[in-house]
Amino acid sequence: MNSIINNIEIIKAKITKINDVDFDNLKFGHVFSDHMLECNFKNGEWQAPKVIPYQAISLDPSAKIFHYGQSVFEGMKAYKDANEDIWLFRPIENFKRLNISSKRLAIPELPESYFMDGLKTLLQVDNEWIPKKDGSSLYIRPFVFASGNGFHASPADEYTFIIACAPSGSYFSGKVRVLIEEKYSRSANGGVGFAKAGGNYAGQFYPTQLAIEKGYQQVIWTDDNTHEYIEEAGAMNIFVRINDTLITGPTSDRILDGITRKSIIELAEAKGIPVEVRKLSVHEVVAAAKDGSLKEMFGAGTAAVISPIAGFGYKGEDFDLPELEDTYASSLKKRITDIQTNKAEDPFGWRYKVE
Ligand SMILES: Cc1ncc(COP(=O)(O)O)c(C=O)c1O
Repeated sequence: MNSIINNIEIIKAKITKINDVDFDNLKFGHVFSDHMLECNFKNGEWQAPKVIPYQAISLDPSAKIFHYGQSVFEGMKAYKDANEDIWLFRPIENFKRLNISSKRLAIPELPESYFMDGLKTLLQVDNEWIPKKDGSSLYIRPFVFASGNGFHASPADEYTFIIACAPSGSYFSGKVRVLIEEKYSRSANGGVGFAKAGGNYAGQFYPTQLAIEKGYQQVIWTDDNTHEYIEEAGAMNIFVRINDTLITGPTSDRILDGITRKSIIELAEAKGIPVEVRKLSVHEVVAAAKDGSLKEMFGAGTAAVISPIAGFGYKGEDFDLPELEDTYASSLKKRITDIQTNKAEDPFGWRYKVE
């Protein structure tokens, strides 16, 4: 039976898949909840979004997503606390970034109410899918792609916006070893690196496979011009601790403005940790690894939250990071996840209750 919440029409799935899911052993992004939000752009405007059963999409072979890669996405998480209340973390930032990405890819921007009311309604309908276990959450994937047809290399006239959800456990298990890239580039000045465009990730897969063959799990991208400055990882911004100072590169045309990154900067400053947002050269990191002042490196992003780095490779040499008892990575991860999951006060007003 159809119903309406927050002005969004809901068409319920006839059967639920939830009984097939082992919530104690969730992988990341492998099973999908019963419903999804769908919203179509046609005749020059976004049509009213609907919550519908999770289902396959049918597209014409000439749909422009296949040929010209017009697609952008976001990554967010919903958490359920001990009282069964549902929380999001800075969701308006994801909405704004989706539109920043869309604009760069000549995709029409979405109205805020379609995104926020659509998301809240979907979470209410799939409430039972939000894991309660520590370390698990409902990973949320909003995305927009060119569903309009034609082989002409120009923007499509129709687009589809979908939000799909996957109850998920942690993204990486344990510390990762990373390779600092000397040849390939993820992005360039004037390009689309700051956008969460699907093609940015496709372009990383081949160099990342080469790094995996050499025994690393991730690539640390450097600037495309000189390969001398640390930029970011595949799906994370990068922080380096030299002595007691936490350093991260400035955002630019080439780097995604991560929501975890900017939250970590504020949380670290509030804890009295000296933070520097500045260009960070590979040379400086290697020198610090050699003289013992390099204490920590970690990635920061929604999926992994904070992912500590065990060591890095550069120009054929390997460097190990020290095993410290109390790390910035673990204290900042605890601080941010406590805020996200409603276990601690949120003086920043980042937590967003879904009701
Ligand atoms: C390339 C890239 N950098 C950084 C991040 C981290 O951004 P956020 O903290 O908003 O998830 C992501 C993930 O979204 C990403 O894909």
